[in-house]
Amino acid sequence: MNEITIVKPDDWHLHFRDGDMLLETVPATARCFARAIVMPNLVPPVTTGKLVAEYRQRILSARPDGSSFLPLMTIYLTDKTSVEDIKAAKAAGAVAAKMYPAGATTNSDSGVNSLESLYPVFEALAEENMLLLIHGEVTQKHIDIFDREKEFIDQHMVKIVERVPHLKVVFEHITTSDAAEFVLSAREGVAATITPQHLLLNRNDVLDGGIRPHNYCLPILKRQSHQEVLRATVASGSNRFFLGTDSAPHSKDKKESGCGCAGCYSAWSALELYTQVFEELGALDKLEGFASTHGPDFYGLSRNTDTVTLVKETWTVPESIKLPDGELIVPFFAGKEVHWKLKA
Ligand code: DOR
Ligand code: ZN
Repeated sequence: MNEITIVKPDDWHLHFRDGDMLLETVPATARCFARAIVMPNLVPPVTTGKLVAEYRQRILSARPDGSSFLPLMTIYLTDKTSVEDIKAAKAAGAVAAKMYPAGATTNSDSGVNSLESLYPVFEALAEENMLLLIHGEVTQKHIDIFDREKEFIDQHMVKIVERVPHLKVVFEHITTSDAAEFVLSAREGVAATITPQHLLLNRNDVLDGGIRPHNYCLPILKRQSHQEVLRATVASGSNRFFLGTDSAPHSKDKKESGCGCAGCYSAWSALELYTQVFEELGALDKLEGFASTHGPDFYGLSRNTDTVTLVKETWTVPESIKLPDGELIVPFFAGKEVHWKLKA
């Protein structure tokens, strides 16, 4: 197959950042995605309805002329989030809340320390027909970084899903066979996003032959056996799994540092790379479900009606992207060939 046309996809997890960066990140996503779930981990984080509405407006203003791209907003949960905050976020257009365990990842310092006290908020989300999006890693320093997702399932995920039976939960950017199995066997209303990097790479790609900071993200890439399970999971076509790039730009300086930031900026190549993975798996017929229909169906939103076409054509991801202020970003897969291309 040299060409594939699918319903226009959405990105169910990404980081646009803020300010001038929006002029880079919003067009990069709007080139191929109709909608995106926008992560709220700004500095300071998006914790109120007012902040949701203002951030949404800044994103809309950064759209290219004529673009009908729609940001789907989220509120950032803290120990202080109240039921009223959830109602205000809903009124401001938020469709979901994002839960970061405090300290789990980039800009998560204001995240949740005590999950136990958040149950009224989880109930309120279910009542408001909003989803709970979870960064599923424990933050206990004595737990090995490669085991933190599995620990989170055992310590927290099982409980959250069982104690709030009507809450829709998305286990974000899963990285392990444990998470894939958990989602598959969980009650209805539990799903997961999977990033391109966790399908394409494993931990050797961060550490073998030198440290590769541009492949460093959180949750960290796992061993190859986990990667294989994630690949088999998307190839199965299960509607519990859908596209979430976790595209997350950091400046070149901040990635190539003595203490480098976590995140892969994949917006310019993600859809093409997912297509490449599905082709490698002999599962191109499952791409549309993963990229375009499982997500809106799970969120209870309408499917897009436009289409996009990808053609089999090799191109090379640029080594870097220069922002207007001169800052450089090294995109995911920089300098590497991609074998599918979005048809203009
Ligand atoms: O790699 C990551 N980068 N994982 C996250 O959870 C956050 C993200 C970011 O905001 O940079
Ligand atoms: Zn993320």
